[in-house]
Amino acid sequence: MICPNGGISAVLRPPKNKNSLPTFGQKSHSAQKLILKNGDFGCFLQNSVAQWLTCLPAVGILNNWLVTIAKGKSVFRIVAKQQLAPTITKYIIEAPFIARKRKAGNFVIIRVMEGGERIPLTIVDSDPAAGTITLIVQAIGKTTKLLATKREGEFIKDVLGPLGNPTPINNHGTVACVGGGVGTAELLPIAKALYVAGNTIYSIIGGRTRELAILEEEMKSCSQEVYVTTDDGSYGRKGLVTDQLKDLLDGDFGIKAVYAIGPLPMMKAVANLTRQYNVHTLVSLNAIMVDGTGMCGGCRVSVGGEMKFACVDGPEFDAHLVDFDEMIMRNRTYIDLEKESDHRCNVYKQADAMEGVA
Ligand SMILES: Cc1cc2nc3c(=O)[nH]c(=O)nc-3n(C[C@H](O)[C@H](O)[C@H](O)COP(=O)(O)OP(=O)(O)OC[C@H]3O[C@@H](n4cnc5c(N)ncnc54)[C@H](O)[C@@H]3O)c2cc1C
Ligand code: FES
Repeated sequence: MICPNGGISAVLRPPKNKNSLPTFGQKSHSAQKLILKNGDFGCFLQNSVAQWLTCLPAVGILNNWLVTIAKGKSVFRIVAKQQLAPTITKYIIEAPFIARKRKAGNFVIIRVMEGGERIPLTIVDSDPAAGTITLIVQAIGKTTKLLATKREGEFIKDVLGPLGNPTPINNHGTVACVGGGVGTAELLPIAKALYVAGNTIYSIIGGRTRELAILEEEMKSCSQEVYVTTDDGSYGRKGLVTDQLKDLLDGDFGIKAVYAIGPLPMMKAVANLTRQYNVHTLVSLNAIMVDGTGMCGGCRVSVGGEMKFACVDGPEFDAHLVDFDEMIMRNRTYIDLEKESDHRCNVYKQADAMEGVA
């Protein structure tokens, strides 16, 4: 998906060496404006609509939706919003073309508002008949907190997708699915697809506290058993997901594959554990992403000594081949600037509130 006007390649040349990342300015607003330099009719529309038009004959009733896009208006309406935990929210968003095409493992890149940062989010579920997709988002920084302020009936500026490769779904026999925090939301569509493919699934969901061990009932719908662990012991087993996984691997469950999604240190710990048992393990890499189309180099990861782009080569990779230490280091690149911009965002919000604007 290359911008026909060459905008992305001209502006965001891939970094020269593998440790390069886009500058913070590139990662956030300025590059994102440039990527979308045709405004509402930027690469997003040129690429995505062109891609979607291929299914137009089957979706004639969606023409109104397309006309609305063509007028440059936001069309990604928040149909429903539900709080799953104090910082985790489920959004059902109108995005009929994405809903039709998405597969387990795909993600979208959204901009909450004009000129805003682009962030990747997994498509947790979709309803092609209703034309909606489900996102589950933890509010941890500027953009995810801004999203959390949106109400039902309001619009998200852009939703680009489906992106990334669908997760390879095989019939392994018995599989362990391990989710940490909001990673469980990213794992759910994969667990469901593995179940449909005939696997017997043992799921482990973990969180620092009870509220952060989410989607237990949903995971039960596709699992033989769901085990919950919390760091503080406020619910389920006190300890880490790897404690429970070790028990499963030591038991006679016959685990043939492990799918793990969560914070990087958790996925690294799972990889180190399953390596000892020689059990095939897939992880989904939450690398820093800007364009999501393989152009900016932000999401570079080292897998088996080779350079990969998580957005177009992943996001799932063989956990035993991933250089987690390098990835953890790269993901920390913008931490100070992110904190600063989140802080600035809150200061502006307070100022707006004082003026009665917010
Ligand atoms: C393929 C993929 C799927 C994801 N799916 C989900 C999901 O379903 N639900 C969910 O809550 N989160 C998901 N994330 C993580 C989500 O993108 C980040 O939480 C979000 O970008 C944070 O942005 P912020 O401005 O709120 O926070 P910031 O304060 O800007 O950043 C907080 C942390 O989020 C990460 N981050 C920041 N910007 C990006 C970026 N552009 N790309 C990737 N990571 C970033 C970094 O680790 C950073 O330290 C996913 C990430 C990837 C790569
Ligand atoms: S290369 Fe830009 S997000 Fe992957």
